[in-house]
Amino acid sequence: MKSPETPERLLRAAKSAGTPTYVYDAEIIRTRCRQFKSAIAGLPSRLLYAVKANANPALLEIILEEVDGLEVVSAGEVELALRLGVKPDRLLYSPNNITDSEMDYVAERGVLFNIGELSRLRRFGERYPGSEVSVRLNLWFGAGHHRHVVTGGEHSKFGLGADQIGTAVDMATRHGLRIIGIHQHIGSGFESAAQYLEAIDLLLGAAARFPNVRFVNVGGGVGVPYRETDRAFNLQSVSAGLAERLKSLPGESLRAGGNNGNTVACWFEPGRYLVAESGVLLVRATAVKTLGRKTFVGTDSGFNHLIRPILYDAYHEICNLSNPNGDPTTYEIAGNICESGDLFASDRQVQEIREGDLLAILDTGAYGMAMASQYNMRALPAEVILDGNSMTLVRHRETYTELVDRHLRETQPRKL
Ligand code: LLP
Repeated sequence: MKSPETPERLLRAAKSAGTPTYVYDAEIIRTRCRQFKSAIAGLPSRLLYAVKANANPALLEIILEEVDGLEVVSAGEVELALRLGVKPDRLLYSPNNITDSEMDYVAERGVLFNIGELSRLRRFGERYPGSEVSVRLNLWFGAGHHRHVVTGGEHSKFGLGADQIGTAVDMATRHGLRIIGIHQHIGSGFESAAQYLEAIDLLLGAAARFPNVRFVNVGGGVGVPYRETDRAFNLQSVSAGLAERLKSLPGESLRAGGNNGNTVACWFEPGRYLVAESGVLLVRATAVKTLGRKTFVGTDSGFNHLIRPILYDAYHEICNLSNPNGDPTTYEIAGNICESGDLFASDRQVQEIREGDLLAILDTGAYGMAMASQYNMRALPAEVILDGNSMTLVRHRETYTELVDRHLRETQPRKL
């Protein structure tokens, strides 16, 4: 069974901040950023963090010390990054299905667009002729831990199809747009480096068709070991494979273009890899009961706080911090939301759980808090960052009176 490295600090965090609380270990974030950077150090590269995985500002500050920039997907993420003082040239904006007004908001702030629809490319060109732009491609290759997060291939809504490249290049030429980057994100949480390289080959193959290309963005999606038996992703082999390919590729095809003989840079934009393993969701067991053949453990959280298990059948290790040496016992670990699907884990062995015990749900730093909601009129969890011996509350625990105050305020009827 996986267990947290420093359970005492988690016990302390629960004591100070209460539960449910997301706790992040700053050192793990830094380590993952550095591992990624060092794996790609031999390449002309740029490492962006995909903000959607976790947008807590204090966490972003830690990450911004380590990476080159941020991948952002909405006007909200752009606004957040700019308000945190991030310069627009450190952002790549990869939205989908936006409105013209969102386009204008972001374009006016000088952020580089990564566009995945022909109609948006046309409207961007009409409105901002002469700009630099990146395009997102769907080269019919997808991978991911669940079909909902496979973003390449015929079932995905993302990107310009391989068959639309010619049209996109012509359209860009008509509007004086310089397509300086091409991008592909095949999906999220894939585990195979070989698969990643296969997709990268397709992208590099497409690069020759873009005369002004300066970077190829190979997206994010690198998986992390959620189960003890999962292996760490082999980033080295991706990097080595990429170095090989870059050496042989640009010569003929890219130098022939407008790239002045420079090797294209490789951009990466992981989210999960950088933050997932830093996070733990601390919850309290509020009820233990046997129903038929099953023993249910109820907790003071639910899928409103961590939606990955119900949405993707995702696995997160669960440890009983209050009884680390308890006998492994099989449980249904449930939340307090009024749906039967509200299970963090089913048929799961955890050290014997008693009411009042503190449970740690591991590897929840990515797409945990970021996807949390107030469903059932339940407040959001608090967030805490541990950094060495220091412990900082980085999101105040909302009370239900605050929640209801806001709900009533925002739902005041107003004649239109
Ligand atoms: N770039 C683009 C264009 C993306 O759409 C995403 C994630 C990333 C980068 C970062 O992917 P990552 O390295 O984090 O896998 N909620 C799901 C994951 C959704 C990912 C959406 N796009 C989950 O909890 O597994």
